[in-house]
This record gives sequence, C-alpha cells and structure tokens, in this order.
Amino acid sequence: MSQLKPMSHLENIPPTPGKLKMDKSLFTNRHRWHSSLTTLTFWSFVFLGLILLFFFRAPSPSPLPSDPSGRSSRTYNWGGPAWEKRARYSARVRSRNGISVLVTGAAGFVGTHVSTALKRRGDGVLGLDNFNDYYDPSLKRARQVHLERTGVFIVEGDINDSALLNKLFEVVAFTHVMHLAAQAGVRYAIENPSSYVHSNIAGLVNLLEVCKSANPQPAIVWASSSSVYGLNTKVPFSERDRTDQPASLYAATKKAGEEIAHTYNHIYGLSLTGLRFFTVYGPWGRPDMAYFFFTRDILRGKPIPIFKAPNHGTVARDFTYIDDIVKGCLAALDTAEKSTGSGGKKRGPAQLRIFNLGNTSPVPVSDLVSILERLLKVRAKRHSMKLPRNGDVQFTHANISLAQRELGYKPTTDLQTGLKKFVRWYLSYHSGGKMATG
Ligand SMILES: NC(=O)c1ccc[n+]([C@@H]2O[C@H](COP(=O)([O-])OP(=O)(O)OC[C@H]3O[C@@H](n4cnc5c(N)ncnc54)[C@H](O)[C@@H]3O)[C@@H](O)[C@H]2O)c1
Repeated sequence: MSQLKPMSHLENIPPTPGKLKMDKSLFTNRHRWHSSLTTLTFWSFVFLGLILLFFFRAPSPSPLPSDPSGRSSRTYNWGGPAWEKRARYSARVRSRNGISVLVTGAAGFVGTHVSTALKRRGDGVLGLDNFNDYYDPSLKRARQVHLERTGVFIVEGDINDSALLNKLFEVVAFTHVMHLAAQAGVRYAIENPSSYVHSNIAGLVNLLEVCKSANPQPAIVWASSSSVYGLNTKVPFSERDRTDQPASLYAATKKAGEEIAHTYNHIYGLSLTGLRFFTVYGPWGRPDMAYFFFTRDILRGKPIPIFKAPNHGTVARDFTYIDDIVKGCLAALDTAEKSTGSGGKKRGPAQLRIFNLGNTSPVPVSDLVSILERLLKVRAKRHSMKLPRNGDVQFTHANISLAQRELGYKPTTDLQTGLKKFVRWYLSYHSGGKMATG
C-alpha cells in the first residue's frame, strides 16, 4: 500500500517537542515558518481593517432599486460623516417654532420654490432628488446651485431607496415631509408608462413605509394634481366631486396616490394632506409645460400648436402662479396636525385632508399666447390643431373655498403679472444669466 508522503515542513517536527534536541537548521526553518505565519496574520488583520473602514466610513454607493424606465438607473453616493454633517446642518431649525422638513423633488420647479421659502423663514430643510433627465437636468442643477446659496442641501437619491430614506430619518428627526418628487407630465406616459409607476406609486409607498416606521412619525404634505378630475364636466372642480375618470396614466397614478394616502392614514395614523395643484407656472418652471415651450418656440419663430376641443370648444387652464402655490404649501405644512402613530403602530385617528390649489380664473390657451406675444414683442406662428386624446383635458377650474377656509389660501397673481415675471426670468436665464433669481 503506498503511503502518503508527509509534507516536507512537517517531516522534522518531533512527536514530543522538547524531548529531542533540535538542530540549528530545524530551528531556523520553524522560526521562518512562524514568522511568515505572523506576517500573514498581521497583513490579514490590516486588510480586514481596511475593508471594515471602507464599509463604515466611506459614502455608501446605493444601487437604485429597479426603475423599469431605465432613465434613472444610476447609483448614488451618500453617507459618511461629512455627508451627515451637511444634511444635519441644512435641516437645522433656525427660528422659534420652526419645523424641520424633508422636501422630496427639491431640484424640481415647485420643490425649489418651496424649499427656498421654508429656508428663508428659518425652517430646517433637507432636499432629496434623483435629478432624472425627463427634462434637461442642467436646469435642475442650476436650481440646486440657487438652493445651495440659500443654505439648502439636496441629497442625490431616489425615493425608492429605503436604505437612504431610513438613513435620512436617522440623521434628522423630521417633523414634516413635503413630498413633491414625481413623474410629472401627462403626454410622456404614452412613451414611458413605467416611470409613472416607479415614482408616483412605488416611490410613494416606499416613502410612506419609511415615514410610518419613523419615530416620531412626520406629518406629510404631498402633491396630487387637478388632473384627478379627469373627464369631469361640472365646473368649478370641488374636492367633493368624483375623481374616477382619469384621462391619463399620470392622473391615474395621482388618484392612486390619494387612495394610498388614505390607507396609510387609516392603518398607521400618518397625518396626510394632499394638494391638487392646477397648472403651476413661473420662474424656474418646467420646460415640458406649454407656457414654457411656447415662449421658447415663439422666440425661435417656430409654429406653436393651439388645441381646439371638439365642437370648436375652448381649451382653457386655471393657471396658478408659483408664489401662490408656495403659500398654499406652507399653510398646509403649518396647519398639519401631528401623526398619531409610533413604532409603526396607530395610536389614534390622524388628520387626512385634500385641497384644491388653483387660481379660480381659467384662461383660454389662445389668450396665454397673446400675453406672451405682447411680453416678448414677437408674433407667434399659431397652428390650430384638434385636441389629441393623449391625456390632456379640455378645461380646468378650481373651486378653492375649502383651502380658503382651512388654509387661508388666497391667490393674488393674475396670468399677465405672473407671465411677466416668468418671461423676465426666462430671458435672463437663457442669456447666460443662469443664476437668475426668481
Ligand atoms: N407644475 C404643475 O403644474 C403641477 C400640477 C399638478 C401637480 N404637480 C405635482 O407637483 C409636484 C412637483 O411638480 P413640478 O412641476 O415641480 O415637477 P418637476 O418635475 O419639476 O419636479 C419633480 C422633481 O422630482 C424629482 N423626482 C422624480 N422622480 C423621483 C424619484 N423617484 N426620486 C427622487 N426624485 C424624483 C425630479 O428629478 C424632479 O426634480 C409633482 O408631484 C407634480 O406631479 C405639478
């Protein structure tokens, strides 16, 4: 039977060490073996230490939870002591009775204005935005620069990232969340439906999951939309009207959001206020909205589509100036009652509200174009078209009596005055004055 050959370095080891006299070479070999083992152990510890240091100290690259749209499937870097310090500093309350607010969608149009207003009155504000490219992200970056100057830090990340949201609540005990992050726009849903599900449904649920488990639970104010009134013909739209005939996937996801809000209020005691915004416009606005791209195209001499409803009906919108919307948002935050749950459990009934925030004076889109022509001193090339059936509704008009009564909401800017401010900003921003203030 063939015997296994013992390994060479074990050959010289005596069965009972100490009973045999060791010769010099044996000693040297053992000594070398011991010292290489010590060296190996030492470097293993150093290596392990470095790995631990990397995980605990370095910013955590956070892979974005699956975004089927693929538009924002990026990784974000967050975490680490410097990052936490910035977040804490930005969210620090500086006024008596101030609140500390997590603003999602802070690099967006409404988010930028709301964050600025909160910061200016001494509230603590921390922004969150994934800077997706639904429209030119350089505009979002310019808003970010503007916010940084005001003292607002925007964390870069997605509302679907639970680890990030949990971390934010660990670093700051937010009293309120102003949730504005969403996939906006009605027509884009035909091209990229999954982006609406990702941000407006999955993202909302993820955010509410984190809020319900936070201690203390924050009060949440969030943006729904006038689009939930869908194909309704009774005007002005009141909060009591039906909202079960959405005309776009966008509207359907906002409506779903309102039902989801009801559930989290009912089960977990989260205080939830939904705001149905009506066509918001103003400086730092959204390039996918008609007033914005009409301005661009009039200046470029390009034809602009003016939609005609069936039977030559007028297409009109209840255009609402951004400063009025901001006042409504702040009033909603200030009147929001505390959530009643703790440790993820409801301890009593909590506030659940829905408000229209509009201007209550719908303007035909053709009048909007006439105002822009006067302000820009350029004649528009109007191209009349049938209203396509891809999500737009013919008419919006808000009944705002509930918001007036409960929030003291009172819009004060007419379309002429508001567009004048928008055009001034637009010209300044596009003439290289990218840091134009609103
Ligand atoms: N502007 C309007 O006329 C209007 C009308 C009705 C409702 N709303 C609602 O108001 C809110 C703000 O709208 P806006 O006009 O400022 O739009 P916006 O697109 O300018 O702002 C939304 C911001 O949210 C961010 N975002 C989107 N998905 C995200 C995600 N998954 N994670 C993190 N960030 C994400 C975007 O990058 C963007 O900066 C939205 O909820 C919108 O649906 C707006």
